[in-house]
Amino acid sequence: MRKGIALALALLMLAGLAGCAGKQENTGDNASIVVGFSQLGAESSWRIANTASMEQAAKESGYSLMMENANQKQEKQIDAIRSFIAYRVDVIVFSPIVETGWDNVLSEAKQAGIPVILMDRMIETQDDSLYTAYVGADFYAEGRRAGEYLIRKADALGAEHLRIAEICGTTDSTPMRDRQRGFMDVIGQDARFEVIASVDGDFLRSKGEECMRDLLAQYGAGGIDVIYSHNDGMTLGALDVLESLDDPAAKDMILITVDGEKEAVDALKAGRINCVVQCTPHLGPSVMKLVGDLKAGKELPKIYHPEEGAFTDLDDLKDPSVEGF
Ligand code: AHR
Repeated sequence: MRKGIALALALLMLAGLAGCAGKQENTGDNASIVVGFSQLGAESSWRIANTASMEQAAKESGYSLMMENANQKQEKQIDAIRSFIAYRVDVIVFSPIVETGWDNVLSEAKQAGIPVILMDRMIETQDDSLYTAYVGADFYAEGRRAGEYLIRKADALGAEHLRIAEICGTTDSTPMRDRQRGFMDVIGQDARFEVIASVDGDFLRSKGEECMRDLLAQYGAGGIDVIYSHNDGMTLGALDVLESLDDPAAKDMILITVDGEKEAVDALKAGRINCVVQCTPHLGPSVMKLVGDLKAGKELPKIYHPEEGAFTDLDDLKDPSVEGF
């Protein structure tokens, strides 16, 4: 009961301090377990679906969720984690916008005895004890899937030389680094492929559009054969630009994207995109299961990756499993 009052006060104070704290206080047996969740932003449909998954899973499991959205600012995530420590939440969950710069604040959480679960993105640290578990995609495998598709496609077309422009996600974020590394590890030694540009689209649709315009200004539609874009938002932005041109070379470009949101999968089925590598945003249930296991004193797996695949124009797109989120 006392914890319930303390939680209500904490939620009120946090909301007052931050101005935008999400409060979801449940009432069942688990309601006294408080999960502090720092979401990194709302930059894409993926992120919005991910936030909804966390909220829904907290509701279903009965835990109270204190959520802060950092609007793509690392300092705001650090502030949010510090406020969760001050309010002595039971578990901190966070999705780090970039990989570096977390050691100090996570050491504070460790000293306070609050376990940290990394959700969606990883951190770069020498000290693995700063987090208890990681739940999220294997971004390196996603990059490899994109490369493997391109090899199959080049084989199918009998292509001898393909010029690739890469539109990258947020610089130094795990998906940006690992989707690039995985892709390059697969195509890098194959002389048919040449990466002519790698530009930063920050996972934003508007930036995808901007990048595409810049790439066209530099190379022309006839100078680019493949767009490898690290998320659907940026791909759809680039596609808007390509489809506004009256140029057959723009229509012939091979488009490879990552995520699997409905708009992108529908575009794949309509022949406007060639390959969608899946990345599931529905991580909430796995996170809340780990919270329950932690509270029950169970040992957690250090790394949990959901199962994912890819949908491509070389496969049967009529299969009912081919659908977006
Ligand atoms: O970290 C996952 C990535 O972040 C998704 O691919 C992207 O859409 C999001 O913004």
